Amino acid sequence: MGSEGTQGTGRVADAVAVSGVERAPFDTSVAHIARVYDYWLGGKDNFAADRAAAEQAIAAWPDIVLSVRANRAFLARVVRYLAGEVGIRQFLDIGTGIPASNNTHEVAQSVAPESRVVYVDNDPVVLAHARALLTSGPYGVTSYLDADLRDTARVLSAAAGMLDFSRPVAVMLMAILQHVDNAENPGAIVAALLDALPAGSYLALSHPAADIEAEAQGKLAERLNQTIAEKVTMRDRAQVARFFDGLELVEPGLVRVPEWRPASQVEARSPAGLWGGVGRKN
Ligand SMILES: C[S@@+](CC[C@H](N)C(=O)[O-])C[C@H]1O[C@@H](n2cnc3c(N)ncnc32)[C@H](O)[C@@H]1O
Repeated sequence: MGSEGTQGTGRVADAVAVSGVERAPFDTSVAHIARVYDYWLGGKDNFAADRAAAEQAIAAWPDIVLSVRANRAFLARVVRYLAGEVGIRQFLDIGTGIPASNNTHEVAQSVAPESRVVYVDNDPVVLAHARALLTSGPYGVTSYLDADLRDTARVLSAAAGMLDFSRPVAVMLMAILQHVDNAENPGAIVAALLDALPAGSYLALSHPAADIEAEAQGKLAERLNQTIAEKVTMRDRAQVARFFDGLELVEPGLVRVPEWRPASQVEARSPAGLWGGVGRKN
């Protein structure tokens, strides 16, 4: 789908089929995080309701725009590290988002062209972009799965058809677990994903922080919870650290995302309200 197809307030009429999945038309009058996030990143794949929700969030905490950019930069540095320094060749990126610069497969395949990437998201606009995502070079493979993170059995069984689970996989949960509330036991979801993978696999994760710019981010979460379909649960550093239980955190540990192996001190000082880290399964 080009950007024209998602501008405006009308309904998207076309169902899109990817990997045998058919989706019905969806309601564009309700804001969704994938499109709100796209707006913050300067994208055009969003509707009036998404833009209004995004602007209200900016009013609550103007640094949200720099924060999401810092998150994207973190994602790219993490993938470059995993593909380049660790030698990971398989990525399971859950909560893909609408394509932006430095998508996981682009970074991984620029380092190692044979890298295999499986994307997972449950947003219909992300699904509509899957064809754009499914463009690997001649050696790598990029696949897209329209599924819910909370259905780990389905995510794992489908991903197992595309990735070799006897070899290390990097599971990426970038800015997604805030949409899984405590009653849904996000820790068990992370554990189920890692349990299916061999030693030498990695978890890469970022999560909006309840304890960075606490007041402003609290207002931001409150606004988002009034405007978008997916509910938001901010977590503090200790709560985010628990997602890495049983894993070995690689240096520099769980830090504000721009402080994770920054390219420069200027980058490290960027405003950002997310904790981020990378852990190894031993
Ligand atoms: C804030 S965006 C982050 C995008 C990207 N991971 C990044 O860090 O730049 C969150 C993404 O997670 C997706 N998402 C939220 N809840 C989900 C769920 N339960 N299952 C699958 N995807 C989900 C949304 O549709 C959205 O694309």
